[in-house]
Amino acid sequence: MSQIYPGEVFANTSDFDAGIRQLLPRYDEMLEVITRCVPSTSRKILELGCGTGELTLKILKRCPDAEIIALDYSPRMINFAREKVTSFGYQQRWSGKEADFGEWASYPDRFNIGTDFDACISSLAIHHLTDEMKQNLFTRVYESLIPSGCFWNADPILPSCPTLAEVYKLAREEWATQQGTTLADVRARIGSSSTYGYSSQDQLATLDAHLQMLRQAGFSTVAVPWKYYGLAVFGGIK
Ligand SMILES: C[S@@+](CC[C@H](N)C(=O)[O-])C[C@H]1O[C@@H](n2cnc3c(N)ncnc32)[C@H](O)[C@@H]1O
Repeated sequence: MSQIYPGEVFANTSDFDAGIRQLLPRYDEMLEVITRCVPSTSRKILELGCGTGELTLKILKRCPDAEIIALDYSPRMINFAREKVTSFGYQQRWSGKEADFGEWASYPDRFNIGTDFDACISSLAIHHLTDEMKQNLFTRVYESLIPSGCFWNADPILPSCPTLAEVYKLAREEWATQQGTTLADVRARIGSSSTYGYSSQDQLATLDAHLQMLRQAGFSTVAVPWKYYGLAVFGGIK
């Protein structure tokens, strides 16, 4: 099996866009919620773990004045996103950087990206950090936003008990069936990964723990605009 970095998911990057929509229920709806939570007047947006650029594109369409700085440590993902952004004619408003967002959280001076973001967004990436690093990252995000700036993140969450874990698992299996496949078939295309940089395989935290971390980071408004079984969009406004 090909070795990939944590979070790349599929052995072949070209399988990601179709595969993630079979693997996770309501992926597009989840990204749309983040998109709606970001003010359309935003001018400077930081994206953590942009992957193939699916959230990126939705945001660039919704925010006509926005420039996105996108960090992703995978050259495969960044290159895929770059080609997609260019094919939609958005290359002037997108700057992709091959970088580890855990390193940015720990050593911001190594990155010349500023601290004046209107918004920070992320989907399906931060859950690869330890809880300690999630807290460091949320604090760094808070410090990198303008007053009234916002942070919205979509991630899988740790079920509060084994009964709910089973409910969430069944929901994903049913979703795959509705897409004309099975989770086992989709998972057969998943690559194998071990720890890389600051990320490891899934390191889930409960929704409550995430909200606590956001408050600890300084966010005065903390909210969960969307939740579907074991997936949630959560974040805060400075
Ligand atoms: C599951 S993909 C999600 C991509 C995209 N946000 C989406 O929702 O389709 C997670 C992405 O996070 C990136 N990633 C994971 N840990 C990272 C880290 N520590 N630094 C930078 N990128 C990371 C992976 O390379 C991958 O592209």
